[in-house]
Amino acid sequence: MNAEIPTVAELIDLERYPLDQPNSPRLREVIAEAHATLDDQGVCLLPGFIRADAIATLVNEARSLAPLGFRQDYSDMAYGHLRHCQDDYPADHPVRRTNPFHVAIVPGVDVPADGHLRTIYHWDPLTDFVASLIREPVLYRAADPLLDCNISVLGPGDTHGWHYDGNLFSVTLMLQPAEEAGLFEFSPNISTPDDENFDAVARLYDGDREGLITLPLEPGTLNIFKGRYSLHHVTPVKGNRQRLLVIFSYDKQPDMMFPTATQLKYTGKTA
Ligand SMILES: [Fe+2]
Repeated sequence: MNAEIPTVAELIDLERYPLDQPNSPRLREVIAEAHATLDDQGVCLLPGFIRADAIATLVNEARSLAPLGFRQDYSDMAYGHLRHCQDDYPADHPVRRTNPFHVAIVPGVDVPADGHLRTIYHWDPLTDFVASLIREPVLYRAADPLLDCNISVLGPGDTHGWHYDGNLFSVTLMLQPAEEAGLFEFSPNISTPDDENFDAVARLYDGDREGLITLPLEPGTLNIFKGRYSLHHVTPVKGNRQRLLVIFSYDKQPDMMFPTATQLKYTGKTA
């Protein structure tokens, strides 16, 4: 795609986050701090992960790919895992309430193999670092050509409604926030494996902000979060600037492919 591909060292701030020196005191400190916030709130931010002088390069790549995004406009419930029994709940119950989604996702196949974003994603020390953060002995990049490395593109008015994630953890890289709003709001551990805590979710849907945190996603911030039990959303984007965020997918097993239905849902294609 580009004759002059920057090296990883020109993209990631390896002085602040020396992923290339896994046993260095500095990286151990980064990991320890990340563990503390992940344990407490289920989310950890690594601001300045991307060097300030590399942001524009990455934004340019993402912006050039944005028109390839698979656009979707729909409403959905946050409780995909309870979809089969939603009729058991009253109409105004959180299980049956739906939230709007207006999103576009650039499929992984459209993110160039020789581009900057994949230079970062395919760098093994990043995969190993993510494994350390979530206390896994080893992780693998997803093998799914559609959903391994994606760009979320939110234009004016676009939003990502309240939901829980099906996967155990997510890794995102903010490249370009919206001019205004388009904020990532996260309710840490509002539910647990044993308690859906529907009353608190109903209050949140009705506007109660207790326990809600707004994560300051600046350009170049890497975000690792556990969204299975922490309800989260992205507020509607204001202004004309696209909100551009990269999503990296990993799994405990090599060669992981997402289910065909998931591929279709997010990219409109199957692999
Ligand atoms: Fe999510």
